[in-house]
Amino acid sequence: MVVFLNGRFFAQDAAVVSVFDRGFLYGDGLFETLLVARGQPFLWDAHLERFARGADMLKLRPPLTSVEMRRAADRLIQLNALLSAVLRITLTRGPGPRGYSPAGADNPTLAMTLHPAPRLNAKQPARVRLITSTYRVAADDPLANVKTCNKLPHILARAEADAARADDALLLNTRGHLAEASASNLIWISGDVLLTPPGGAGALMGITRGAVVELARKLGLATRQANEKPAVLRRASGVFLTNSIHGITEVVELDGKALRRSAVVARLQRSYESLFLAEGASKQCDEMSLRGRTARAASRRAAQSGAQAPSARDKK
Ligand SMILES: Cc1ncc(COP(=O)(O)O)c(C=O)c1O
Repeated sequence: MVVFLNGRFFAQDAAVVSVFDRGFLYGDGLFETLLVARGQPFLWDAHLERFARGADMLKLRPPLTSVEMRRAADRLIQLNALLSAVLRITLTRGPGPRGYSPAGADNPTLAMTLHPAPRLNAKQPARVRLITSTYRVAADDPLANVKTCNKLPHILARAEADAARADDALLLNTRGHLAEASASNLIWISGDVLLTPPGGAGALMGITRGAVVELARKLGLATRQANEKPAVLRRASGVFLTNSIHGITEVVELDGKALRRSAVVARLQRSYESLFLAEGASKQCDEMSLRGRTARAASRRAAQSGAQAPSARDKK
């Protein structure tokens, strides 16, 4: 796989980040994870808007503009000849002197990597079983609104789910209210209304959550934000998760007990898929011509930028 690091493209084993990088030392950074479909990063503008907001909050200066970042992302997709993938963008404060003070860390690290897209219906179950994590996220934490590299509660919650052979974990916040799943937002249906925890609940404000809420409104469904205890999920007519990689995933079980299922979830899944296909189609890039171009571009651009073109083995 070819990766992007600080303005250049490298074969993945040749891309090296300093052991003094604050992303490594303190999680001092941000990231975004997007789905690439037909060679196009889905909901790019929304992800970049959150990324820019996060950089502002952390007082990080991305070394590229969002237009330059898009150009680099497009080029990375071409160099790897991957039409379906997961794109991860990471920005850290870069290397600096020892200690928490960010003073002296003036060269941020920007990396972009591609990863295999999950195969729907195989690895990613369309329906998930959750357990309630013992870890909690902080209510009213302003940092929860942006996608920082600090994810320990989520990592440990997911480890609890793995150990319990569940698919994912539900995280409550420090007030005992519903927040989110380890890497997804939570939405439940009560009567005709879609409910989701509000900004201050400690959940990341997901891009997919926003897109699904907008979609629901267009379908004539009412949406509301609410701080609620987990018991509401037992009374809900349907519960689902949203995230950029898996879209909408129905929750069918919580802590070993079945939850009710609603036809509204399947309806939203269909609408979301249409949105996804429409966005891809509006920027339609002919797959065959992209494949042709990628092969030629890979060697030409690699030669120009000093990158190593992906080997046949890397591409597998
Ligand atoms: C903690 C957390 N919550 C929610 C989400 C969903 O956000 P998005 O829809 O932007 O992918 C993610 C995504 O990775 C996440 O890590």
